[in-house]
Amino acid sequence: MTVDPSILERIIPSAEEKERINRVADEIREKACQELARRNLDAEVRLMGSVAKGTYLCDPDLDIFLLFPPDFPSSRLEEEGLAIGDAILKGEKMYADHPYIRGIYQGLEVDMVPCYDICDTSCLQSAVDRTPFHTRFILENLDEKMRDQARVLKAFMKGVGTYGAEPQTRGFSGYLIELLVWHYGSFQSVLEAASKWKEGLVLGDGIKNQSMQGPLVVYDPVDRRRNVASAVHVDTFALFITAARAYLRHPSSLFFFPVPRTPLTMDEVKQRMDGRGSRLLTVSFSRPCINHENLEAQMWKAEEGLAKVLESLGFHVLGSAHVVEDGLIFAFELEDDVLPPVRLHVGPPVWVSEAERFLHKWKEMGLDRPTIKNGRWQVMVARDPRDAVSLLQGEKERISLGQNMDVESMCVHGHQDSLQADMAVVLSRLLDRRYPWEIPEPQAE
Ligand code: CTP
Ligand code: MG
Repeated sequence: MTVDPSILERIIPSAEEKERINRVADEIREKACQELARRNLDAEVRLMGSVAKGTYLCDPDLDIFLLFPPDFPSSRLEEEGLAIGDAILKGEKMYADHPYIRGIYQGLEVDMVPCYDICDTSCLQSAVDRTPFHTRFILENLDEKMRDQARVLKAFMKGVGTYGAEPQTRGFSGYLIELLVWHYGSFQSVLEAASKWKEGLVLGDGIKNQSMQGPLVVYDPVDRRRNVASAVHVDTFALFITAARAYLRHPSSLFFFPVPRTPLTMDEVKQRMDGRGSRLLTVSFSRPCINHENLEAQMWKAEEGLAKVLESLGFHVLGSAHVVEDGLIFAFELEDDVLPPVRLHVGPPVWVSEAERFLHKWKEMGLDRPTIKNGRWQVMVARDPRDAVSLLQGEKERISLGQNMDVESMCVHGHQDSLQADMAVVLSRLLDRRYPWEIPEPQAE
């Protein structure tokens, strides 16, 4: 089975597009060389990433690396790298292992990254020093046909929502996708293999006695100490398996080019909620001024932290979602949002000294007299408050949030308050469970 030619045509950049991209890359490279010369710096400028490897999709980002000699002081590497990036791109400061500049140049996103020109990955000084080795490995091991297969797999991963190692996707990086094609031979064979993958899959050889953990372990052929798939979350791994199976059953262009999802209307949200009897809870925070990737990582952490506290209070979380808009919003679907009026409060064993204090306190305040169970005092007490909004607010200090999130800005909205138009996006994320490839094309009027 091959991919439909009309799909390939949309994925593989045209000769003119390739020429345009190469021209822009040459121009930036030229400028970077001039900047280096002007500063009397002995560094090399090299095009890296998917454009150098011939595995990019339309509208790629350019990865321009400045390779400094290994004995160049790291503080100066950072300073000069940023200054050169800034002079050419006037962009934004980003962080990997060390800071670099990201900007737009003639409509293309460009990363200008300083690194060390090392001879072997065992002398690595920072993670980005591996990139030149990755570029060389792919150029040497993937012929033109396989590079196009990597493009097809990238487009598929992008369509189904598994492309990118960033925190918002927790998925497959471009280099990982190339290695999958190298390992299995083609787009089709990657999908056939993936349809049978199981958690804990290991590809390639690592270093003896240093096994790595994760749903997927792909040892980096240029540095066997590293798992190229370390960013892949078990849910993204499972989503890719599901997408591969669905595509093999019914191949369609919708896997590569899904129809953009329109958020559910508030009426649709209400309809769905009426049908199931569960309850909504939304939690919002002010948005801190940090870069998007960092913020996304904190969003996942906070979503988990909020769900944990809700569970510990006695609520059952059926689903959760988050969005970053002007503020940060989390949505939870709860089995119920009011806890029963009574709860059992378990006290100390009968024979310890605190037992007297427990008895004294609860004799009056309990709903019934304290009783003994398994050698301990226990008492039925009234629960107050009982609703999720007040209970969560009361526990706000205990929620593990992202480090830049401001707990004081936390607002909790109950079911009715959550059913407002400005919650449509987060509620859609929570309630619209369709996979990207399942969204139908709009019918022509
Ligand atoms: N890289 C990596 N692991 C990541 C992200 C990046 O090893 N999680 C390295 C790779 O060597 C990659 C380079 O950084 O080639 C540039 O990163 P990026 O632009 O994300 O990847 P590309 O290979 O250029 O692929 P694409 O841009 O098409 O996703
Ligand atoms: Mg790139």
